Order: sequence, then C-alpha cells, then structure tokens
Amino acid sequence: MKTRITELLGIEHPIFQAAMSWASSSSALAIAVSNAGGMGVIAAGPMRPEAFRRALAEIKAGTSKPYGVNIPLTDARAAELLDIAYQARIPVMVASQGGPREHLARFRAIGAKWLHVVASVEHAKKAEAAGVDALVVDGAEAGGHPPPSEVGTLVLVRRIIKATRLPVVASGGIADGAGVAAMLALGADAVQLGTRFIATPEASVHENYKRAVLAAEVDGTTLVARGRLPIRQLKNAFSAKFEAAERSGASREELEAIFKGSSLRQAALEGDVEWGKVEAGQSAGLVNEILPAAEVLRRLVAEAEEARRRLASL
Ligand SMILES: Cc1cc2nc3c(=O)[nH]c(=O)nc-3n(C[C@H](O)[C@H](O)[C@H](O)COP(=O)(O)O)c2cc1C
Repeated sequence: MKTRITELLGIEHPIFQAAMSWASSSSALAIAVSNAGGMGVIAAGPMRPEAFRRALAEIKAGTSKPYGVNIPLTDARAAELLDIAYQARIPVMVASQGGPREHLARFRAIGAKWLHVVASVEHAKKAEAAGVDALVVDGAEAGGHPPPSEVGTLVLVRRIIKATRLPVVASGGIADGAGVAAMLALGADAVQLGTRFIATPEASVHENYKRAVLAAEVDGTTLVARGRLPIRQLKNAFSAKFEAAERSGASREELEAIFKGSSLRQAALEGDVEWGKVEAGQSAGLVNEILPAAEVLRRLVAEAEEARRRLASL
C-alpha cells in the first residue's frame, strides 16, 4: 500500500505502533515493528537519559528501517530528551503536547521528519501553520490521553483531513485490518495502534497488564478526570475510587490527590492492575491474543487487503 505517509517516511506499510509510555519505552517493540515494515516508535517520556541513549543505540543496530521517537514537549525534561534524539540523528519525530515550531529547523537539518500528535481541529491547524510534515490524530477511543472534547476517531479524523492539507495518521480504536481499511477509506494516509501492541511479547509491561487488556470488553475502559485532561484506562479499583469521589462532590484538591496517588508505572512495571493507571483504549475489547509484533503487522496487512477486496466486490 502506497500513501503519502509511506512515501514521506520510506516505510512499507502505512501502520504505526503508537508511542506508549513504558510499553514502548525500550527498543524491543519498535525494532520488531520497524523490521516488519511498519513504523516503530519509542516513547521517551518516562525514560532516563541513559536508558533513552541506550535504546536509540539498540534500535540503530537492530534495524535499517525508519523508526520514530515520541517526546512530550511540555515535559520538564523535554529539552534534554530532544538533544539526545538530535544527537542520535533520529529519522522520525512523533511529538506530542506543546508547540513544535521552535524545534523544526534543527531536526530538518538532520533530515528528520516531524509528525505532531493532535486531538482537536484547533491544534491541527496550529501544527500545520508551524510547518510539521504530518499529523497524528487521536480520537476519543484512544488509550492514554484522548481528546478532552471526547470526539471520536471517525469524526475527528475526517474533520481534520478536511481542515488541513497535511497527511493524517488516524489513531484511536483501531485493532485489526478492518479498522486499518476503514481509516484509509476515510482519507487517512496511515493508522496508529497502541492497545493492540500492548498484547505482544515485545511490549515492556508486566504480564498482569497484558492479561488485563486481553480480558477487557469494549466497554471495559473509562475516562478518568473527565472535563479536565482525561486518561482512558481499564476500569479498576483506582478508577472506581476516583469516580465515587467525583459523585460525592469531592473538592478539586481531593480529586487531584487521588489522581496523583496512582500511576501508569505502578500498573506497567509492578503489575498492580487494580490500583495503577492501566491505560488502554476501547479497542482492548477487540484484542484477545498475545502475538509477536511482526505477526500483528502481517495480520493487519492481510486483513486490510481482505477488507479492500470485500468493499470492491460490493
Ligand atoms: C499505555 C499507553 C501509554 C501511552 N503513552 C503515550 C505517550 O507516552 N505519548 C503519546 O503521545 N501517546 C501515548 N499514548 C497514546 C498512544 O500513542 C495512542 O495514541 C493510542 O494508544 C491509540 O489508541 P489505541 O490504544 O486505541 O490504539 C499511550 C497509550 C497507551 C495505551
């Protein structure tokens, strides 16, 4: 499949493995996806500088194909992480949060392509005006930080395709090849999958996390901290406690204390899937098998082709 994104980045398949803090905060998953012809992405957000440097050296040695790095630009350590990525001459940046403008010239000078993650029409237009190469558009189904507006992927992706001229990578709620084909039919130039890639041997999260994703139904997630900067995660004791506090009229400070009392790290590294933030998308309900990342890629491509054939025969 050739699209503006496969041409821009020099990848075989228009399929990204989403940046996922902890799950893709090492080189294994991204190497497997890039070697299989997709776009593997290392999530630098939670990584210490030495670990990030090491992962970049590993991915350089582990694949000759393009790969990406995600840095949340509003993170207090963003400048340091950006310097490391620049020194490693990474081929693709998938930046999230914050403004890209001040960083573009430096990364262009090393030949890197800059994709920006957005979750609203306003931010998409801003990123286009700043001069990014392409957009990753996250809809409400997405795990992690979906749009506070709660507009779904189908509508938000279509709207942003109409509102900008940039290639769009659709993200949120895609777990199989039918979803890939649906987004390409909508006009997207690629897709991004996060939750599907948690259920791989290469994802660096605790086995309890993977099992919880497999066990979840499509209604098994919830938005915690709705109306502020919500996270989508699997329903558990932590989300129930937060929601009960909201219902009982807890103050902003009390809610903040509950929110900060739990972390993604707790779920991802320690396996505490009851009290940790088990970030995952609605597509967890479509994932029921742990498969090697390369096999996930192979099936996505085969199923997308099958969906195309089905459409053509209608
Ligand atoms: C566990 C987890 C961690 C995430 N961490 C990040 C991150 O560090 N940076 C980022 O830009 N997006 C992050 N996301 C969002 C993903 O990049 C992606 O947008 C989302 O997973 C797509 O939705 P899906 O899970 O339905 O495929 C995370 C998502 C999950 C599930």
